[in-house]
Amino acid sequence: MTNESDVPSSDLEALFRPSAIAVIGASANSAKIGHILVHHILHSGYDGAVYPINPKEDEILGLDVYENVADTPTAVDVAIIAVPARFVVDVVEECGEAGVKFLIIVTSGFGEVGDLSTERRIVETAHQYGTRVLGPNIFGIYSAAANLNATFGPAEIIPGNIGLISQSGALGIALMGKTVTEGLGLSAIISVGNKSDLSEVELLDHLTTDDATKSILIYMEGTKDGHRLAETVTKIEERKPIVIIKSGRSAVGAKAAASHTGSLAGSDRVFDSAFRQIGMLRADGINEAFNWMRAFSTQPLPEGENVVIITNGGGVGVMAADACERHHLMLLDDTQRLEKIFRDSVPEFGSTRNPVDITGQADSDAYARALDAALSEERIHAVIGLYCETATVDAESLTAGIAEIVSEYDGVKPVVFSMIGGEKAAQMMGLLNDRSIPAYSSPEEAVSSLGALYQHWRYKRESDLGITIEDGPSFDMETIEAVIHRARAEERVQLLETEAKEVLTAAGLTMPQSRLAHSLVESVEAAESIGYPVVMKVVSPDIVHKTESGGVKLNLLDEQEVVDAYRSIMATCRERFPAAHIVGVTVNEMVNVQKGMETIVGGLTDPAFGPVVMFGLGGIYVEILKDVSFRVAPISQSKALKMVREIRSFPMLYGARGKKIKDIRAAAEAIYRVSYLMTRIDEIAELDINPLIVMKRGKGCKVLDARITLHTQ
Ligand code: ACO
Repeated sequence: MTNESDVPSSDLEALFRPSAIAVIGASANSAKIGHILVHHILHSGYDGAVYPINPKEDEILGLDVYENVADTPTAVDVAIIAVPARFVVDVVEECGEAGVKFLIIVTSGFGEVGDLSTERRIVETAHQYGTRVLGPNIFGIYSAAANLNATFGPAEIIPGNIGLISQSGALGIALMGKTVTEGLGLSAIISVGNKSDLSEVELLDHLTTDDATKSILIYMEGTKDGHRLAETVTKIEERKPIVIIKSGRSAVGAKAAASHTGSLAGSDRVFDSAFRQIGMLRADGINEAFNWMRAFSTQPLPEGENVVIITNGGGVGVMAADACERHHLMLLDDTQRLEKIFRDSVPEFGSTRNPVDITGQADSDAYARALDAALSEERIHAVIGLYCETATVDAESLTAGIAEIVSEYDGVKPVVFSMIGGEKAAQMMGLLNDRSIPAYSSPEEAVSSLGALYQHWRYKRESDLGITIEDGPSFDMETIEAVIHRARAEERVQLLETEAKEVLTAAGLTMPQSRLAHSLVESVEAAESIGYPVVMKVVSPDIVHKTESGGVKLNLLDEQEVVDAYRSIMATCRERFPAAHIVGVTVNEMVNVQKGMETIVGGLTDPAFGPVVMFGLGGIYVEILKDVSFRVAPISQSKALKMVREIRSFPMLYGARGKKIKDIRAAAEAIYRVSYLMTRIDEIAELDINPLIVMKRGKGCKVLDARITLHTQ
């Protein structure tokens, strides 16, 4: 990769609206990719200049052919390269010399098969001329704004408002095909392949400002650019729905099994949390993503929480209600109001409660009446319509009725449908979808899609989304740097516990009082000044597992116990580690753990997102229940507070089972400070505060033990 300062402009306008395109490797042979590309470009109605480049041919698909990109009659904005890998670097040079702005390199056979050096040469060569590179190893791009299908995927694409970015070539082509069969319209498709230069970050940035794009779908396998992605999405002013399909969930199990924070780096948990932090919606798979895109591309966002279910079947109504709970949708439950709204649409033996059951006998008119009542009522903000196939209803008149009512209230509130049954239901679903009314084959899918609209609506209202871009707390940087310098000088990546605590103290965290004593007399003096009970711990760079080595004594109540403990620690450690350099002992304030709550605050360097912080309750909560929350650092105090509230075991901190409520704000402050420590000191690979004891409200929290590991140099 070249330096960021060498990277040319990232204005992608000419990539999506080129005035002239060259296809290098264009072929007269209709089976070749170079032929299909020219065909699709012409077929899609692109009205700019198209220049096939081929050294042997005179004419391809009725177009004049040029021997070299330098020979074209007008300047080329975009050159699509489809020549074998061994020619690509030379072709890139020629394009650079000819002033081509963007290269779309279709050719495979670079980084993905281990040839990173040629890939780097491609980018370096292009950047010398101010040219940007998409690919290599991609299927091309589609841009509805330019009527341009410069891909070798399907020839027919429905223009619309969904932007699609795919890291996988084969799956990207498949997704393109699926948008056609599902009747979903696209504003753009971009295959990013090896991401040698342009990655999903720049493309996402472009699509979020592109007026034709209403929502964005990304398929991602992995990224090294997570932090830049988070920064970019944080800065985006207009929040469009961004749905992501990210493969690799199953890695969680293995990764999360280890209890220390660093082992979670690169894990799916981090991805999941990061996506939520920056307001991206993660779909479970292709079907769910397409379901959501259908809703986003046709429906407005809700303007309030009240959802109503209208159904002709009690059972599916209950299923939908269950799904609503899972997707955090709130069903309007004001029975009197519901009765007033729906009494004219529901028969005696039906129910005006929510789900509103118009019963299996309901005909098209009854369904339309109920729908009309829901859509016209201001206090209802979203409607889920369910229909179980019955012999009494004529499918066509019902869909026509639904379509008429929905179009009357077009854009007022989101409406989703589920048509459950056989052929007739499938036919109705198709008819509704053709009219841009989202209809699904199961109640769960309809609810999940409305759930996605609601989630995005909540993201939009959240003021604190994304990573935090503010100055943060002030630290004693001199002390922190001195500690790290000392460890580096001694070629250690593991800081001593005392050093780790020095760093954390310099970052503003609170330790129990602690004094270093070099002798028995100093130990007693230290204990007297701290106040009993105290804890005594050996200090030696050569003794790592202090407790197991007899180097720790707890709950020392008076002078005599301090004297005995000191003698015992020295004797045992000298006996077990005769060669160890023993500096002395620390005498520490004994924190009453019973009165507080054991928590863990961690920091790690994630390969995708960079510095990340973690919070959870200690012991089984982390180790067995994996009940932890993550954020990409740095974060504000309010985000840290949300992290604390987010864990399932939060009630334990909030006074569950008659316990005193704990100092939650102090815990959040500690996480906030660790997030800035991880961001500012990039030498820290991993940090574990385990435990951080959170005392009762107003009493703060204290670091009992801490480990800091530096990156190996
Ligand atoms: N300038 C112009 N034309 C040239 C040059 C050049 N420097 N060098 C060769 N050509 C011409 C060739 O003469 C040929 O034209 P012809 O048919 O008239 O002889 C044309 O370019 C193509 O060259 P071929 O050697 O025939 O190569 P072919 O078309 O078989 O393969 C390709 C080229 C498609 C780029 C191949 O090397 C490749 O990388 N394939 C994989 C593409 C891919 O899958 N990309 C990822 C997409 S996503 C997914 O996974 C689905």
